[in-house]
Amino acid sequence: MNILILGGGGREHALAWAVMQNPKCDRLIVAPGNAGIAMIADCASLDILDGGAVVDFAEENAIGFVIVGPEAPLAAGVADRLREAGIAVFGPSEAAARLEASKSFTKEVCDAAGAPTAGWARFTDADSAKAHVRATGAPIVVKADGLAAGKGVTVAMTEGEALAAIDDMFGGAFGAAGAEVVIEEFMAGEEASFFVLCDGETVLPLGTAQDHKRIGEGDTGPNTGGMGAYSPAPVMTEAVTEAALERIVRPTMAEMARRGTPFQGVLFVGLMIADGAPRLVEYNVRFGDPECQALMMRLGAQALDLMLAAAEGRLAEARVNWADDHAMCVVLAAEGYPGSYAKGERIGGLEALEGDSFSMMFHAGTAERDGQIVSAGGRVLGATARGATLAEARARAYALAEAVDWPRGVFRRDIGWRALG
Ligand code: AMP
Ligand code: GLY
Repeated sequence: MNILILGGGGREHALAWAVMQNPKCDRLIVAPGNAGIAMIADCASLDILDGGAVVDFAEENAIGFVIVGPEAPLAAGVADRLREAGIAVFGPSEAAARLEASKSFTKEVCDAAGAPTAGWARFTDADSAKAHVRATGAPIVVKADGLAAGKGVTVAMTEGEALAAIDDMFGGAFGAAGAEVVIEEFMAGEEASFFVLCDGETVLPLGTAQDHKRIGEGDTGPNTGGMGAYSPAPVMTEAVTEAALERIVRPTMAEMARRGTPFQGVLFVGLMIADGAPRLVEYNVRFGDPECQALMMRLGAQALDLMLAAAEGRLAEARVNWADDHAMCVVLAAEGYPGSYAKGERIGGLEALEGDSFSMMFHAGTAERDGQIVSAGGRVLGATARGATLAEARARAYALAEAVDWPRGVFRRDIGWRALG
């Protein structure tokens, strides 16, 4: 079967790498892809937010299955257009993608489903939002309602920070995404990510992970898209996992089906765990990046069978073959990220890295120029490895990261510190 993956980051390189190992895949095209993906698949330039253009491209290339990597095409209804055209697609409808695209929608669904999450209120003007903050006090969490590329959340430790965030959001810092603001109770605890597949009805747990969002070691400094991740997450014990499924995930999926907007794809469940009890922080309607790199390293070729089963409504008969292993992804970023950084810098040492089922250098923001790999984004590479223990996975991932010749590339040296003790 010919397969099309939409996206061009480290997540999509990892998806492409797993899909290519499955003999069901005859030809793989990734749009737009990146320099690393181009080494294993065909890359195509295509407006992936334009559902009509994606359908035309899929038909011209006899694509039998489309995997949507990022949230933006899902929120734009690209999966709906593909399904209308009779093309199998992994990823939710525009209506179900609101679980990521609108925080107040998610809160309403959680309330209707009885899923534990932070107490919340929504506001469409700054004065009433500020009055709420003054009445409640800090710490408190202020969120732009819509998609803000992971930057629309302020965890305010003081009232002043919360008031400033409200001014920013209603002042247009996040455009239309900030026209409505959600204010939440602050939840203490340890965070973990739980990934489940859903075919609209059946839920199949796929794996757990923890990521490091801050740029600095010891989890300090500004937030990023994620500087590293590892799987599984030790805090996700069997009991916590079961509680998350029974109290949060299954009721939410049932509520989505009851509303006539069943969810199909991967649900990224962001949890806060305190005293063994999980509460929902957020949903995303796609794999996390770099969590996906660690998950794909563990799942390998079966990832394609599982995604196909989700798309075709066959999850009830699907099984995940677990290896009792661990994986880690260490992100190499351009110096200066998440602020301003240089692009077009030559990255050496990549040719010598073969890659196998235990370690792989996934590309994110890379491009090819005159036969050389150059940086083309903030997060540039993801050194990913697995092992029998997390310590073994870490040793392999860091050996890979160290082999890169890129003087102005930076990476955290402490990925996994919480789990490694
Ligand atoms: P979100 O984009 O909703 O995942 O929020 C980004 C990050 O903000 C999360 O990963 C948490 O670390 C933090 N966060 C969000 N909501 C809360 C909350 N209610 N209490 C504490 N931390 C939160
Ligand atoms: N690593 C977090 C995310 O993909 O949203």
